[in-house]
Amino acid sequence: MEHLDIHIAYQRLAYEELAEADRALVDRAKEATFTSYAPYSRFSVGAAALLDTGETVCGSNQENAATPNGICAERTALSYIGAAYPQSAVKTLAIAARDSSGQFTERPIPPCGMCRQVLAETEQRHDTTMRVLLYGTSGTYVIEGVSSLLPFSFDGTFL
Ligand code: THU
Repeated sequence: MEHLDIHIAYQRLAYEELAEADRALVDRAKEATFTSYAPYSRFSVGAAALLDTGETVCGSNQENAATPNGICAERTALSYIGAAYPQSAVKTLAIAARDSSGQFTERPIPPCGMCRQVLAETEQRHDTTMRVLLYGTSGTYVIEGVSSLLPFSFDGTFL
């Protein structure tokens, strides 16, 4: 029998401690929360992706009265990038959210499981590593690759 461990490394930085480019991307994710369509949950999420071209593409959650038809901010951004910039890798993805009171969440906002799977595919598609910035007013988690968010991920190598 083997007992194995997975170690996940991440940094927690105050907003002011973020590198300038990361702070700018977090700002874009925060701005993107204002384009959210979330009449049901009142939880507004924004995602901002920095492409290897230097461009930034944003997305926000778009809900639907038929609940499963809603889509998260991260997948809105990544699906658009896949369609409009198929050759571009995402270098960094920042995520921010505002709660039903309109305030940015205190805790860094983590992507849901379905989005993690899509983040993993986006990395693999371009054979790259995507940094992920999870913003909260108490601090931002800086994660240096999706494998830290989704260990044991299912991917195309199994097919
Ligand atoms: N949501 C996102 O957009 N991203 C996440 O990572 C977590 C959840 C959205 C989905 C739904 O519109 C709302 O937040 C509440 O779950």
